[in-house]
Amino acid sequence: MNKDSQQHQAVLVKEVLETLNPQKDCYYIDATFGRGGHSREILNKGAKVIAFDFDERSIEKAKELFSKEINSNQLILLRENFNKMNESLLNLKKSLNLEISGIFFDFGTSTDQLMSKDRGFSFEAREEILDMRMDERLGVKACDLLKLIDEKQLAKMLFEYGGENDARAIAKRIIQVRKKDPNSLDKVGTLVDIVDQVKGQRARGKIHAATKTFQALRIIVNDELSNIEETLPKALRILQESKAIDKRLVCIAFHEGEDRLVKTFFKQIEATNIGKLINKKAIQASEEELAINPRSRSAKLRAVAL
Ligand SMILES: C[S@@+](CC[C@H](N)C(=O)[O-])C[C@H]1O[C@@H](n2cnc3c(N)ncnc32)[C@H](O)[C@@H]1O
Repeated sequence: MNKDSQQHQAVLVKEVLETLNPQKDCYYIDATFGRGGHSREILNKGAKVIAFDFDERSIEKAKELFSKEINSNQLILLRENFNKMNESLLNLKKSLNLEISGIFFDFGTSTDQLMSKDRGFSFEAREEILDMRMDERLGVKACDLLKLIDEKQLAKMLFEYGGENDARAIAKRIIQVRKKDPNSLDKVGTLVDIVDQVKGQRARGKIHAATKTFQALRIIVNDELSNIEETLPKALRILQESKAIDKRLVCIAFHEGEDRLVKTFFKQIEATNIGKLINKKAIQASEEELAINPRSRSAKLRAVAL
């Protein structure tokens, strides 16, 4: 794989622009900046962006790639968990007169994060520490979790967050390995081998056998679902308190757990007449996009207007 194909490609860009509808000189929050693919397009419309990402590497890269927009204050970049967006906005409001016209979330991890060889996300980097923190300020790495959690909890977690049908057998094997040599669980390769051993011949499918196990661990380590659950009501409040007209909340989810939270929250917004769903059903990638960006296959976009 060449270097470019490892770079994050933003998904559903046209659809995000249609639903978020960015207007010149109005402020939008990009809660999950990543490589800034969506922010770039919003900025190209002449809108202003306040962007969050809790991954220091995303922020450092953004400082290089978006220096012009940062220097001209068209882009305000914050290394912060999006669940702190209210506090951050209050701070910004001390020096800026800003009303938020839209908030956008593109949940999960970027390709850059998943493909980086030294963060424990990549199955190929067998000798690396099984870390998986997107924000290195977080206390618990994936390997710490495997050393702490009991077998039942572990199996439940692998099933609920990864949809892993072999969750019980994998959890059992992890505990066996932990009893013998707990520190071996520090390495990516040990977990990959455990999943391979459990799945045997069934490990030879299209996707890597350890994909679901790794996804579950990543979600827990980064508190992904709690962050979404906590932040959606905060984002709504920001929009309700804003004096902007035609305000939008747009989310892209990649797995069922994320999408369920968004769908339920947006239904409540509509049921209580706070806002209206822009599309009744989730928007998914077109055939053209699927052909050039396979990662877009599981993306589901939902949007509300206030
Ligand atoms: C799917 S990527 C976003 C890609 C981006 N839209 C683009 O076009 O490049 C998700 C990004 O959100 C960040 N992220 C995930 N959860 C976060 C949170 N709770 N607070 C701040 N950033 C978060 C990740 O570090 C990652 O860079």
